[in-house]
Amino acid sequence: MDGTERIQAERHIVLIGFMGAGKSTVGRWLSRKLSRQLLDTDAMIEAGAGMTIREIFAVRGEDAFRAAETEVLKGLAARRMPVIVSTGGGMPMRAENRTALRQLGYVVYLRVKPETVCKRLAGDTTRPLLAGNDRQQKVKELLRQRGPVYEETAHLTVDTDGRGPEEIAEEILSGLHIAYSRQERKGGGHNNEAFGN
Ligand code: S3P
Repeated sequence: MDGTERIQAERHIVLIGFMGAGKSTVGRWLSRKLSRQLLDTDAMIEAGAGMTIREIFAVRGEDAFRAAETEVLKGLAARRMPVIVSTGGGMPMRAENRTALRQLGYVVYLRVKPETVCKRLAGDTTRPLLAGNDRQQKVKELLRQRGPVYEETAHLTVDTDGRGPEEIAEEILSGLHIAYSRQERKGGGHNNEAFGN
């Protein structure tokens, strides 16, 4: 069995990180490369609510959205076929979500600098947390709060500034191979906290 086939048989790959880090784009690359389905937690929540994220925030409030994120994670844990999961940028901020994310599979933090976020999301109106003035300041402050949480949640951190999705996807796959080999040497299964750190 070659490396790619071995990954097929394993758990979900979960992408976390800030808005504009490239989770969906990199997720699509991984999805094609591994022939796995890509599931996007924001899209799942929108489909379930019949509203856009912006509408959910406006009508039901952020807390309701965060509760929906936790519910979606529970649903993903029940899926047997391994998939690629692209998460909303605030997903790891709830402690219970952090535990749930690590139990889902191999968690990868796509790290991005504030300047890159602002460049990539210039003109975007779909993210309620970045609405209004002084977007740069908002991005900086949120990233300052969230950066350590993303790092603590992830099995692997990958820098994305100035890099294309293919290169990032390749780095994730080699990280995954290393994690699996280490795990096999230890004779570990892949249940909770499958990959250690
Ligand atoms: C959010 C990120 C968004 C979306 C919502 C809240 C956040 O997802 O879930 O607007 O709190 O960072 P993306 O990271 O896919 O933009």
